[in-house]
Amino acid sequence: MQILDDERDKLLDHEYDGIRELDNHMPVWWLWLFYFTIGFAVVYLLYYNVLGIGQNQHEEYAAEVAMAEQMYGSPSDDSGEATAAAVSWEFQTDAESIARGKEIYMSTGNLCFTCHGNNGEGLVGPNLTDGYWLHGCSAEELATSVTTGYPEKGMMPYGSGARISDDDLTDLISFIASIQGTEPANPKPVDEARASECSIK
Ligand code: HEC
Repeated sequence: MQILDDERDKLLDHEYDGIRELDNHMPVWWLWLFYFTIGFAVVYLLYYNVLGIGQNQHEEYAAEVAMAEQMYGSPSDDSGEATAAAVSWEFQTDAESIARGKEIYMSTGNLCFTCHGNNGEGLVGPNLTDGYWLHGCSAEELATSVTTGYPEKGMMPYGSGARISDDDLTDLISFIASIQGTEPANPKPVDEARASECSIK
């Protein structure tokens, strides 16, 4: 075995199958990384567990649930009325409100159009332009439909004031009112077993 001079005093005295080892230092960058992880662990422990400044996973979960309950109502108070009943809803007929409502309907944040069609003709969700409704067609009933959603059918609650403010919701239902009887192409057929006739005025 060939050993360079400067390796001789680094040579450790164990040997296995003719393989011997030099007592090299760890690379500096590796050591700093190691010290950094120790420092990080200390800070982490203090921040989350000792001083309790940061939220640990249980606290984070509790905070998210509390926020969701504030937005969508607590599952335990299943009045189902959410907050739509607290406002007296009215359809607006001015062009500006309707245009704004259409913008909300078509927005990628709300995605109404993906289920109810670009023109309200219906797709996954029911046709919003015919005179048949599953959940009523008064301004308050439409506001309630949007607010509570129908999660078991795939429509999420849009929680009044949370994702859609009351003003925006007024514009949104006004837009829906404005497309009544427009007879868009490819209308989704009426669900005769469930829908009943109701016309928005
Ligand atoms: C993921 C699909 C989906 C999205 C997104 C969605 N909906 Fe719906 N929506 C549905 C389904 C499905 C129903 C029917 C619920 C049922 O069968 O009881 C429905 C029902 C409704 C109703 C009641 C219709 C009736 O006949 O009484 C209204 C109003 C409505 N949606 C408006 C909206 C608006 C406004 C938005 C956007 C803010 C929206 N929906 C987003 C799927 C969706």
